Amino acid sequence: MTRKDSVKTSLPELPPEADPTQILKSGLAAAKGPVALACSFSVEDIVIIDLLQQLAPETRVFALDTGRLNEETYQVAESLRMRFDLKIDWHFPRFDAVEQLERTKGLYSFRENLDNRHECCAIRKVEPLRRALTGAAGWITGQRRSQSVTRGELPPLEIDEGNGGILKINPLAYWSQEQVWQYARSKALPTNKLHQQGYPSIGCAPCTRAIREGEDPRAGRWWWENPEHKECGLHQS
Ligand code: ADX
Ligand code: SF4
Repeated sequence: MTRKDSVKTSLPELPPEADPTQILKSGLAAAKGPVALACSFSVEDIVIIDLLQQLAPETRVFALDTGRLNEETYQVAESLRMRFDLKIDWHFPRFDAVEQLERTKGLYSFRENLDNRHECCAIRKVEPLRRALTGAAGWITGQRRSQSVTRGELPPLEIDEGNGGILKINPLAYWSQEQVWQYARSKALPTNKLHQQGYPSIGCAPCTRAIREGEDPRAGRWWWENPEHKECGLHQS
């Protein structure tokens, strides 16, 4: 039996607009083995950490340290470690790939063209993600439909063919930004300080800026690119 066969899951039925707890519960029940949360320390991921504390506190929480994260992201990671006694399973890029990239193309090659940007994301995010998912039968993300044009039809549960056919659980798929914040405030959860400084979406420091009034929530991510390119490869099969 291949790994793909062994973890292949059939998707359970969910009511339309199912709430995050329903999605999480049914995803965790359907997965044929361990499930892990991919955490970028966005408010969405922090809400999911809190929900998991109630539903499945043993769930592994992993984070991809690209080497280019904001200081504020490390600060909130520490606050969460203290608040929940959380063990964070950090994953770094391969040092030799980063050395090679920086020696040959410099520190900001991702600004030059889309291929270079994808190359940097592949080294710093996608390859470490593959390692972080080793042995997982499913993973949980904080993606939401209203975040961007690329996520407008995001399903709450999906089969992630790009990662060996494992289950992908998007518990906040139907939630708005307001619902996420309402939950975070009601539980007094620690959040990234950059959210208060005009950053609804936070990735790597050199590829994220604050947004202006009326701009799309992900307008500050890779702001020099077209909206349909604004994915880093973590969420593409
Ligand atoms: S990204 O693909 O453009 O970077 P975004 O920042 O919106 O995605 O985050 C969506 C979800 O992807 C997060 O809620 C989280 O589940 C996962 N994710 C993104 N970046 C990371 C990271 N550095 N480490 C772990 N998970 C991440
Ligand atoms: Fe590199 Fe920017 Fe992608 Fe981070 S977001 S991995 S710095 S291109």
